[in-house]
Amino acid sequence: MTSSSTLLTRSLKSEAPRSRSRSLFTLLFGLIAGFCLSQFASRMATPVIIYPLARQHSANHTDLHNDLVVDEGPEHEVFYHEHKEDNTTIADKLKKEVRILCWVMTNPKNHKSKARHVKRTWGKRCNILLFMSSAEDNELPTVKLDVEEGRTNLWRKVKEAFKYVYKHHYNDADWFYKADDDTYAIIENMRYMLYPYSPKTPVHFGFKFKPFVKQGYMSGGAGYVLSREALRRFVVEGIPNPKMCLPGTVENEDIEVGRCMANLNVSAGDSRDSTGRGRMFPFVPEHHLIPGKYDLKWWYWAYQYYKNDDGLDCCSDLAISFHYVAPHFMYVMDYLIYHLKPYGLLRTPEALPAKLKVGKLLPAPIDQPAASNEDSVSDLDRMISSTTVKIDHEPDAREVSSKEVDTEEEKEETESHEKNTSQKKEANDDKSHKE
Ligand SMILES: *[C@@H]1O[C@H](CO)[C@@H](O)[C@H](O)[C@H]1NC(C)=O
Ligand SMILES: *[C@@H]1O[C@H](CO)[C@@H](O)[C@H](O)[C@H]1NC(C)=O
Repeated sequence: MTSSSTLLTRSLKSEAPRSRSRSLFTLLFGLIAGFCLSQFASRMATPVIIYPLARQHSANHTDLHNDLVVDEGPEHEVFYHEHKEDNTTIADKLKKEVRILCWVMTNPKNHKSKARHVKRTWGKRCNILLFMSSAEDNELPTVKLDVEEGRTNLWRKVKEAFKYVYKHHYNDADWFYKADDDTYAIIENMRYMLYPYSPKTPVHFGFKFKPFVKQGYMSGGAGYVLSREALRRFVVEGIPNPKMCLPGTVENEDIEVGRCMANLNVSAGDSRDSTGRGRMFPFVPEHHLIPGKYDLKWWYWAYQYYKNDDGLDCCSDLAISFHYVAPHFMYVMDYLIYHLKPYGLLRTPEALPAKLKVGKLLPAPIDQPAASNEDSVSDLDRMISSTTVKIDHEPDAREVSSKEVDTEEEKEETESHEKNTSQKKEANDDKSHKE
């Protein structure tokens, strides 16, 4: 790989007769491209450009860089003062009426470095909080599942976790939220979104991706929340029936959950707010808020179910979840959301919507962006369906971490693409030097 790249560079630089070097170049390019495509096929889908911040976060996600000091949360419990003056009447009412059980997918390596920071921040606002791991930990505590760790066991782990939840907590909550240990969620806003729905309606919500499942499937990283009826169908009708839910295990648990939900006639809910802005997100906030940071070929644009604006208009004022949130940043989020307020500005909470009958879903937001239509086939869709690369695993946000290592492959992309990346990289390096 390295030597052929060098060869390519050399032939480009060479001053030898033009036509010869051009045909040599063409031949070499063909060979290299072919080789890379075959390498590609087994490993990844479309190449990825990663916003520098996400690079740092996702690198951390691989567990190879768990010792990155910058992302670590505090060792000791952080003291939180109360806000007695806050009027929590509505939030308290929703906590009783829309009970949410959260379960967090974690593993022994992450108990201290990640999971406990979830517990100290957003996790404590769930009605019930469980940590699913393969090892016991009395401090968290964890539910010890009999599943080996590793990405390849995710699907089995999800099934075991939901079986546990069904067996022990079916009647203790109305909604069941699966999150990762680097997800940050604002549970009050989740309760507000779920409020109109009956837990008896077979439905689930999350950040919806378009491919692989006709009704869409929910990103694993942003987390997905199942109604009680969805949980029942999954555990009672789905998992034991190989025609409904895939037996065994696969890496991309979120696609399988999506397939399984579709087979069980569990609707893929629309988690956008009434203005069409998203509420659940597969990346950190800045990733969605700051426009123009990514290549248009980035799989994210092709994969999202609803065309979402980026920029400040991306995100609902009542957003629910973000992914790749580093442990230390969970405390920052907590401070920004629950403590820091601009003096003298009070916002009257939106009125609670009317409750829907069992089986009924809210209509799609009227204000949705013009491009939003699940039936339309965009150029990006065509690119995906016509790609020579067989996408046999999910380029979920979590794949970013393994893809970013593959910069060698990316080099074979167009020159401008390459230039962009290196410019971004330089800009980033520059910035970190100055800091
Ligand atoms: C708190 O908010 C509720 C609902 O908006 C309202 O009915 C109540 O009067 C408020 N309480 C105080 C002390 O302001
Ligand atoms: C799902 O709905 C279809 C069409 O209404 C029906 O034929 C099928 O039996 C349902 N499947 C399940 C598992 O409820």
